[in-house]
Amino acid sequence: MARLTIRTRLILLASAALLVLIATNCYLTRTLSENSAGMVKAAGLLKGIEQADGARIAFGEMRYWMTDLAVSQLTLSERNAAAARTRMEEHLARLAPWNPERITAVRSEVAQYDDFADKAVDEYTNDRRVIGNSLLAQARQHSIVADRLLGSIVADLTGEAFAARQQAVAEAAAATRLSQFVVAAAVLVGALLTFLVLRSIVVPLRRLDAAMAGLNTGNVDVAIPAAGPDEIGAVARTLARFRDTLVEQNRRERELRVAHEELKATQASLIHAEKMASLGQLTAGIAHEIKNPLNFVNNFASLSVELLDEFKETVRPVIAALGADKRAEVDEVTDMLTANLDKIAEHGKRADGIVQSMLAHSRGASGERQRADLNALTEEALNLAYHGARAQDPDFNITLEREFDRTIAPIELVPQDISRVLLNLFGNGFYAADKRRREAADATFRPTLKVVTRALGNEVEIRVRDNGTGIPTEFRDKLFQPFFTTKPTGEGTGLGLSISYDIVTHQHGGTITVDSRVDEFTEFTIRLLRSRQTAMAAAKA
Ligand SMILES: Nc1ncnc2c1ncn2[C@@H]1O[C@H](COP(=O)(O)OP(=O)(O)OP(=O)(O)O)[C@@H](O)[C@H]1O
Ligand SMILES: [Mg+2]
Repeated sequence: MARLTIRTRLILLASAALLVLIATNCYLTRTLSENSAGMVKAAGLLKGIEQADGARIAFGEMRYWMTDLAVSQLTLSERNAAAARTRMEEHLARLAPWNPERITAVRSEVAQYDDFADKAVDEYTNDRRVIGNSLLAQARQHSIVADRLLGSIVADLTGEAFAARQQAVAEAAAATRLSQFVVAAAVLVGALLTFLVLRSIVVPLRRLDAAMAGLNTGNVDVAIPAAGPDEIGAVARTLARFRDTLVEQNRRERELRVAHEELKATQASLIHAEKMASLGQLTAGIAHEIKNPLNFVNNFASLSVELLDEFKETVRPVIAALGADKRAEVDEVTDMLTANLDKIAEHGKRADGIVQSMLAHSRGASGERQRADLNALTEEALNLAYHGARAQDPDFNITLEREFDRTIAPIELVPQDISRVLLNLFGNGFYAADKRRREAADATFRPTLKVVTRALGNEVEIRVRDNGTGIPTEFRDKLFQPFFTTKPTGEGTGLGLSISYDIVTHQHGGTITVDSRVDEFTEFTIRLLRSRQTAMAAAKA
């Protein structure tokens, strides 16, 4: 049914109903006309009975008036008898078409009766009563036969009329029953067809409705009914196209959202990079400005030490000539001066170290790019950092865990700079883990630092994770800024992460991120792009 259009289905349904109606009507019309023919026949037969009865009555009157004529000899009787005969003749003439032989027989009997009766009247007129009586008796014989014949005609006609009426009634009843059956069957078939047609429309419509409701709520996986050749099929096709458009739209929206997110991330990192770059410039500027006066301080400090030594030599005889108290006073002042100058020289050197770091930081790239085994480089830096820390503090200890991806192929980088980054990360991790150990109430706490390297297709990843003090969220934004440090004065410059950031992002085109929870862990993740490395190396070459 779904192969037909809804219009065709409805036309077929209406045509079927009309056809049944026309067929039933035709049948009923034909049966009714047959029935009315039976009724007409019965009515004709009734008329025949009427005529036969009329003939019988007229014949009775004729016999009466003939007998009366024979006795009374009156012309009135003769006229009445003639009139009755005429009436009877008329009735017989009307009956003749129905059964001519019988009517002929009746006429012959009536004629013979008439003949004998006429003769009897003549004999009575001539007063020959005996002959008249005998002739009348003969006439009566014929009248009896004629009467019986007319009676049989009435009986036959009555039988036929009854049969015709019975037949018409029976046929009408049969036609009524049949038409009732046909109408019931037509109603049933019509209801079934209507049900089928409605179902063929309503079921797919419901499916379409469900699909539309699903699409309305944004569910593009909703089942869309198969598109047939009918009108509902056309709607299903349109709906499928709509679904495809929706899927495409969703895909574009997702792409746009991803692009937007990427854009935001790039923007943030650009802003950050710009900030870092301007901070780097500032650092370089400050370092340059400080370097000269600092040189003066350092130079004059060392000069002053030498001058003080010369001064001590020069005034030695004079001091020796002084009294013990005065000599002790002078010695104390010169010793204090020497100690002060030593302090100036020491801190001047430290300040010089800081200025050197700042200048190194601002100069950026410091070494040659070359292919290196990242695992070996990491291992080397780890050992260096560990032994360095142990050399500084013999009590220092930490559990080192390594998870190196052996599939990492050598990549191009500046080994000294990446080592510097790693040394700083390891140093920071050691410091934080050791700090937590020192501050922890729990004696079983074991400082641990884990290093993981992984090959990630186009990238390589290094993770440095320690179980130290962690970094409070309010410090996260400042971590990579130059001079940000939480270490006590003299222990850290706050340049380590700033330099590392510069090396990883600007020099190697990679990323460095941090994840941390206070008193649980800190994990730094460095990602270096393989292709970018190659591209940068190629650009450099
Ligand atoms: N693994 C870590 N755990 C906890 N805090 C850390 C960690 N790494 C860095 N930090 C915090 O970030 C600050 C900045 O680190 P950065 O390496 O730049 O400087 P620094 O270590 O303080 O000084 P320097 O590196 O010159 O010795 C640190 O002072 C510390 O507060
Ligand atoms: Mg550091």
